[in-house]
Amino acid sequence: MEYKISKTLTKDSKLSSVDFNNIPFGKVFADHIFIADYDGKEWNNFEISPLSRIPLHPATMAWHYGQAIFEGMKASITDNGIPLLFRAMDHANRFNASATRMCMPEIPVDLFVESIKQLVNIDKNWIPTQEESALYLRPVMMAVDEFVGVRSSDTFKFMVMTLPSGPYYNKPIGLLVEEHFVRAADGGVGEAKAAGNYGASLYPTKLAKEKGYDQVMWMDAKEFKYVQEVGTMNIFFVLDNVVLTPNLSGTILRGITRDSIITLLKEKGYTVEERPVSMEEIAKAHANGKLLEVFGAGTAAVIANVDRIGYKNVDLKLDIDKAVLSKELKRDINGIRKGRIPDTHNWIMPVYEEELALL
Ligand code: COI
Repeated sequence: MEYKISKTLTKDSKLSSVDFNNIPFGKVFADHIFIADYDGKEWNNFEISPLSRIPLHPATMAWHYGQAIFEGMKASITDNGIPLLFRAMDHANRFNASATRMCMPEIPVDLFVESIKQLVNIDKNWIPTQEESALYLRPVMMAVDEFVGVRSSDTFKFMVMTLPSGPYYNKPIGLLVEEHFVRAADGGVGEAKAAGNYGASLYPTKLAKEKGYDQVMWMDAKEFKYVQEVGTMNIFFVLDNVVLTPNLSGTILRGITRDSIITLLKEKGYTVEERPVSMEEIAKAHANGKLLEVFGAGTAAVIANVDRIGYKNVDLKLDIDKAVLSKELKRDINGIRKGRIPDTHNWIMPVYEEELALL
């Protein structure tokens, strides 16, 4: 379907004030935003405009009952200046799965993708060219009925912001196995990219940080035995030629970077086991010298190496010099995202379709 997106462009670009060699994640916004409204029946008012604050009523439902979801995705630019989106359709589909779980309207996949293409096209000069950097895209949907009773909102706002970003973590991270608080239980919303999942993680993360760790490693809610994921990412364990990662049981995020990594690993001849992974098994592999690498995987972080895991008051230390596979995977993913490595999986989508032939 053809969507008519009205456009008002800024007369006051902030682009020249940005130091692209030093961009903290999450703080620097490109000039424009896409906004659409759901009126209870359909999406309308498609608009790209200069990013600014939006006025909202204090009873805006998202703030009270947490009906809010988001995505994290990336746009990159090739060495010859072609802007590319990475796995845009997969992000659109995951966004809609989150919407369904949170009783929110789906957004047509073609509208989701078209709004992002047009936004990235307008702010293409904001796409960093540095190796580990990208234009981070943040689609978000929130409930905007002005109402204080508990029910699903009828009206919603969909917005997409873009942020030039460097790596989310610029050094290896320490994880603390969480044996008291839980992130997600069977039947809950753990698989959705629901804002509340992240809100609920903040207090345990604060406690882990006070103990000197960077992130929490979440365990299953029944026995605190099986690993789920880490604060902002899925998790992988490399043992000799086998790579373990928790299976998608409904309690962990259906990571798109996770999926890319599994695909690349299988192509490289590794055995990937997606199954319940117990912390006891990991501690034993560490004790036997079989645990070679541990890394987190997510859109923002791409791949984050883990250099220690705090488990039952002991630190399982990992030698980052041995983390060769994760470095190779990071190079592959960044290379595909930037069009430097051939995309054999149909993961990249040029912002201008006619440029597909130029890749
Ligand atoms: C992402 O990796 O895109 C995320 O959404 C994780 C985090 C920044 C919230």
